[in-house]
Amino acid sequence: MLWWTLLTVLLTVSSGVVAVKPGFKARITEHALEYANHQAIDALAAMVPKASIPDQSGSSGDVDYTLSNIRITGFNKPSSSIKIVPGTGLKWSAANAGVSLHADWRVKYKKGWFKVSTSGSVDVSANGIGFSVTMALGDDSSGRPAISSAGCSCSVGGVDIHIHGDIAFIVNLFKHEIEKRVRSMIPGKLCDVVNQQINANAENQLKKLKVMTPLANKKFMLDYRLVSAPAFQSAYMETFHKGEITWTANPQTPPFSPPAIPPYAPSSNMLYLWVEKYVPQSFLYAAQQNGYLRYNLTTKDLPPNNRGFLNTTCSGWSQCIGHLLPAVGKKYPNTTVELQMLSTSLPAVNMSPGKLEASFAGEIALYANTPSVKKPYLLTLSVSAIFNMSAGIVDQLVKGNISGSSFKVAVKESAVGPLSSKVMNTMVGLAMKLFIIPEINKQGEKGFPLPVTGDIKFLNTQLHILQDALMIGTDLQYTIKF
Ligand SMILES: *[C@@H]1O[C@H](CO)[C@@H](O)[C@H](O)[C@H]1NC(C)=O
Ligand SMILES: *[C@@H]1O[C@H](CO)[C@@H](O)[C@H](O)[C@H]1NC(C)=O
Ligand SMILES: *[C@@H]1O[C@H](CO)[C@@H](O)[C@H](O)[C@H]1NC(C)=O
Ligand SMILES: *[C@@H]1O[C@H](CO)[C@@H](O)[C@H](O)[C@H]1NC(C)=O
Ligand SMILES: *[C@@H]1O[C@H](CO)[C@@H](O)[C@H](O)[C@H]1NC(C)=O
Repeated sequence: MLWWTLLTVLLTVSSGVVAVKPGFKARITEHALEYANHQAIDALAAMVPKASIPDQSGSSGDVDYTLSNIRITGFNKPSSSIKIVPGTGLKWSAANAGVSLHADWRVKYKKGWFKVSTSGSVDVSANGIGFSVTMALGDDSSGRPAISSAGCSCSVGGVDIHIHGDIAFIVNLFKHEIEKRVRSMIPGKLCDVVNQQINANAENQLKKLKVMTPLANKKFMLDYRLVSAPAFQSAYMETFHKGEITWTANPQTPPFSPPAIPPYAPSSNMLYLWVEKYVPQSFLYAAQQNGYLRYNLTTKDLPPNNRGFLNTTCSGWSQCIGHLLPAVGKKYPNTTVELQMLSTSLPAVNMSPGKLEASFAGEIALYANTPSVKKPYLLTLSVSAIFNMSAGIVDQLVKGNISGSSFKVAVKESAVGPLSSKVMNTMVGLAMKLFIIPEINKQGEKGFPLPVTGDIKFLNTQLHILQDALMIGTDLQYTIKF
């Protein structure tokens, strides 16, 4: 033990800065980016016509002009993609968008003594519009992923102008001016809308990510904050999160750290999430350290038609303490016993391919509920139990369920004489069946949250149990309102 501690200390010191290992990892594949691209372009197509364009005025040679009431009357969606720039971030690019505008114009023409002012309207269509925007991903001060535009460029192909008005020569002088204006106006306007999409809409989505989630009446805190910058590979990007549960009133990092996440190649789904064994194990550590894994089981905790289990006097029913422990029934009749249960060591979670298990070791002490101030002590049992669990994803929550259990019982101490191990097994079996298993399943049914926003729904979801991790592969559906 000592040399092990020393070795650990030496290794820690010699390796210098110890990076925090993630307990949770998310992989966002190119399929998700493709989907996000469609969503973003649809949003853009909805936003562009609403963009307000201020009046434009200027002069050119002998012409003073004003364009007013500029409205975007149409937007042809571009072909576009969001691609990963390996090592850097994401790039959103689009080509062949088209936009049409309608505006009113007024010009004043003055040459020597000749002055004329006239007005009309104009329809402009611009095509071959493309943009390219680099998105930087990082983490904000609260440990959430953050996204921002790191530069947008836009080009315009052809511009087609139809002026409605009377004086032909003025109109012709003016046409070139409008084209120049439109060519210079579109990139700024489009980049504004694109940047807004990223800096406001996308960033707001990320802001909704719950990176600190209280659990179990706020007794515990689930920490999904980023532990390092996102990584960009060619077919996917990955984010690395703490994935740790601590006791809210006394947050402590457990004395163990997450093992390496097992490699997993497929990337046919949009999103992959790895919940390492570390996550439930840190929960159990916090629970064990802070006395959460104790419970005094009394009659009121039992299902209504099995309320008699803890009775010391039994009315003909065999699954009853008074019957199982006649000595107790004789000494303390017409009352009930209380089972004071506690976990005596850190429970373990085991994950290996296809298998999920939790094991507990604890004690159950029995006391009689007599009117006396001090409840008479009866006996103490040492119990170890293994629960086989099944896990699944329902409504973006990881839910767990006990699929089988086994336990061992030994008598640690008795104040009521010798006890039969068969009877003790029956008694603990009843406590398991009537309370412990339903209680764990009740918690498992409440589920465990994943760091996704409420706007996202999972589709085609599967959960795999790997070595030391659960892996969830899923497609996504957003229901974002623009
Ligand atoms: C159970 O009862 C004992 C004795 O009354 C008490 O000390 C202990 O705090 C109780 N445990 C819980 C979890 O309520
Ligand atoms: C248990 O005791 C209660 C009263 O304390 C009684 O109403 C009930 O019938 C008893 N159940 C059994 C199974 O003996
Ligand atoms: C237990 O309760 C029953 C009915 O209430 C009563 O007849 C009996 O005398 C009681 N036994 C003792 C030992 O108090
Ligand atoms: C839990 O297990 C029970 C029976 O073993 C089953 O009926 C139920 O559907 C399971 N629930 C989940 C969420 O797996
Ligand atoms: C738990 O699962 C293992 C295999 O993973 C199996 O051998 C064992 O019988 C199961 N126990 C129970 C109680 O279902």
